[in-house]
Amino acid sequence: MDNIFKAVHILQTGGLVAFPTETVYGLGADATNPEAIKKIFAAKGRPSDHPLIVHLPHLEHLSQWAQHIPETAWQLAEAFWPGPLTLILQKNTNVSPLITGQQNSIGLRIPSHPIAAALLKAFNQGIAAPSANRFGRVSPTKAEHVYQELGETVDLILEGGDCHFGIESTIVDLTAEKPRILRPGSITEEQIREVLGLDLSPTTHQTPRVSGALLNHYAPQTSLQIVNKEQLESVINSLLNAHKTVAILGLGANLFPTIAEVFWFQMANNAQSYAHDLYTILRLADEKQADLILVEQTPTEDNWRGINDRLQKARTKEGGLRTPDDTI
Ligand code: TXA
Ligand code: MG
Repeated sequence: MDNIFKAVHILQTGGLVAFPTETVYGLGADATNPEAIKKIFAAKGRPSDHPLIVHLPHLEHLSQWAQHIPETAWQLAEAFWPGPLTLILQKNTNVSPLITGQQNSIGLRIPSHPIAAALLKAFNQGIAAPSANRFGRVSPTKAEHVYQELGETVDLILEGGDCHFGIESTIVDLTAEKPRILRPGSITEEQIREVLGLDLSPTTHQTPRVSGALLNHYAPQTSLQIVNKEQLESVINSLLNAHKTVAILGLGANLFPTIAEVFWFQMANNAQSYAHDLYTILRLADEKQADLILVEQTPTEDNWRGINDRLQKARTKEGGLRTPDDTI
């Protein structure tokens, strides 16, 4: 608990605290302190028009941050909070435009991780927190990843072990007439539809967009391609013939156990475990400094959608260029 007191003191004095949530680690600052919020953007190297999620201790705080809250928000809050869901609502008038990237909407979430919950309750105020990685890189799912990403720019990193879900929260936009998923996550569209009793708008590309392309901001640093199971072996063989090294995220056992140029990571066959391990394995695969990371195509059922979304975004597009929309 000592660390929670220390963390609260740092937040109150405008500092940055990284903390575990059930999805990924967040880089937190006092959401009512514009100077502290600016430090988040500086530490991450994040463009200022990219909005932040505000994390809340209790549902009673919701109306401090949002206004004209629709019934659907209360229904989803009751069903999934605390938990890995972010709601986009119309922002309250007093919310700093620094948080919302100058938009009229705000992302809000009540996390369930015991350390995040304890910190929020002790601070008793909103904590603005993006994922605690450099902009465009893989989100951290262990405290050591935060240190690797951000080092001494964070005043305190709260240790909370592995993040349970391992991919970022599902984001649901409730500002339009029909709810819409902006970012798929561990809470599925089906679960949301069941609670609301209505169909959602089809997901379009994540808003808001950031103008311009960023050549060097992508995750992981090694080029990444997705191949289906049938092609996997022959693609690896042709890479080996071209004297390339390759890291594989496979769903089955190592097809090349005796070949030193192949770094094989066997992934789980169920979505929950796959998501839990994904970012850690991408970091390990990146560390191999292979010529390419190959990911075996994952199943396409609804509960794999969050994973497939992140893999698509991590994929290297033609010409090696990734757009800001591709960052995770
Ligand atoms: O699981 C999570 O959501 C983690 C943990 C730390 O809570 N946070 C997280 O934050 O992933 P971040 O900043 O890395 O991603 C938040 C995403 C961004 O893509 C941002 O554009 C979007 O949420 N977002 C935030 N506020 C928004 C808004 N008002 N309208 C549309 N998108 C918004
Ligand atoms: Mg992020």
